[in-house]
Amino acid sequence: SCGTGTGTCRRSTTRRRRQPRPAVAEHLLLVGMMGAGKSTVAQLVAARLGRPHIDTDVEVERVAGSTVSELFSTRGETGFRAQESSVLTEVLARSVPAVISVGGGAILDPAQRSALRASGPVVWLRARPDTLARRVGRGAGRPLLVAGGADTSEGPAGALARIDGERRALYEEVASVVIDVDDLTPGAVAERVVSAVGLSPHEHSR
Ligand code: S3P
Repeated sequence: SCGTGTGTCRRSTTRRRRQPRPAVAEHLLLVGMMGAGKSTVAQLVAARLGRPHIDTDVEVERVAGSTVSELFSTRGETGFRAQESSVLTEVLARSVPAVISVGGGAILDPAQRSALRASGPVVWLRARPDTLARRVGRGAGRPLLVAGGADTSEGPAGALARIDGERRALYEEVASVVIDVDDLTPGAVAERVVSAVGLSPHEHSR
């Protein structure tokens, strides 16, 4: 407090104040290209933190009752994106803090980018196109990488490089943390995710 006769009057700037925690669940979100390791890493991080793991592709398949590939062939990419968007909205609204691996293309939609950013820390697992290509192989289960995708002549590696180029700025825009995963095992990536977002292992939600 400000006494008399001391010459200066300091306001109590040293008073410790905790940042108020948001009332709604803060999720931890992993974004990035196909083959970046989002699902594998999210599973490890979720186990570390004692949180549920949610994968948007798995949720889409459960809700639609068909695989991602089937959805692309019956309803086209537009139909798949619509389903993905409604699933993402539902998942983000869940009240238990989760670790969510987000399908690689969900960031194409500006509204979904905003929703992701508002839902907790967003970690971009960034990989070079050659790393992605090595990991996805022939692209099985990834309709954008196989015949029937945008360009059948380019092959999975070519498609990955092109799509990566189209999306980099969007991942960048949505991410609060970036991790270069090329030379890291999934376990090492998971460790970096946990320390980057400042959550202690086995923290339980309050
Ligand atoms: C897509 C990524 C896939 C899946 C679909 C489209 C994309 O998910 O949602 O094949 O546009 O990048 P993963 O990122 O989990 O492979």
